[in-house]
Amino acid sequence: MIEIEHLELVGSTQDVMKERLSSLDPGKITAITAKEQTAGRGREGRAFRSPPGGLYMTAALHIEGPLQKHIALSLLVGLAISRLIPKIRLKWPNDLLIDHKKVGGILIETRAPWWLVGIGINQTTPLQHLEGLDRPVTTLVQEKADLLSLDRKILESLQAMLPQFLSEGFAPFQKEYLEKSAYALGSEIIVRGHGVCIFEGITSEGELSVRVGEKREDLNFGEICF
Ligand code: BTN
Repeated sequence: MIEIEHLELVGSTQDVMKERLSSLDPGKITAITAKEQTAGRGREGRAFRSPPGGLYMTAALHIEGPLQKHIALSLLVGLAISRLIPKIRLKWPNDLLIDHKKVGGILIETRAPWWLVGIGINQTTPLQHLEGLDRPVTTLVQEKADLLSLDRKILESLQAMLPQFLSEGFAPFQKEYLEKSAYALGSEIIVRGHGVCIFEGITSEGELSVRVGEKREDLNFGEICF
């Protein structure tokens, strides 16, 4: 079962959800959305600009077991969203792109056994409110994507994938992820902390496989740069 509460203005939906964890029903996916955030966060402590017009949502998932699947869960959420909006391409580990422009991102935080899945998507956000970011950006309305009940549809899409993910891990989704990747196998990418690398794929754990010269590495932190 999915329960969504819609709020107007919050600091960060992640923080609102953290305060509520002790009262949540572990059998449900509970989510909070906000029309606007004053302190929206992205990965690695970055700010996530959250003016009116975006989808800002945190869903709490109750997952028992090891926490190593952190990155893989981020990829799974991206895949769940790309199933709804086929134009979306995925930039490891958490960016949602359309035509190489950022349309949204995913932030996973843990308060075991709760996993907080934060999703931010530019829907009808006026582009001038997103000016000055260090990356190209776009919005769903600009790309003519269907916005109707997107919050609930995303959670339904994720809910449909979760049982297989929890029992078999990321491996069953590897191939689909590669099909939705913003980068083709063998292409040059820039990875923070590693420089220019060749994209060799995604492992069954959701790590980024790269080759630098003769050396092959599977990375479980960092990110592909714009
Ligand atoms: C990123 O691009 O680095 C991730 C962005 C995640 C933003 C979402 S918006 C809803 C939730 N609340 C936050 O403060 N962050 C996430």
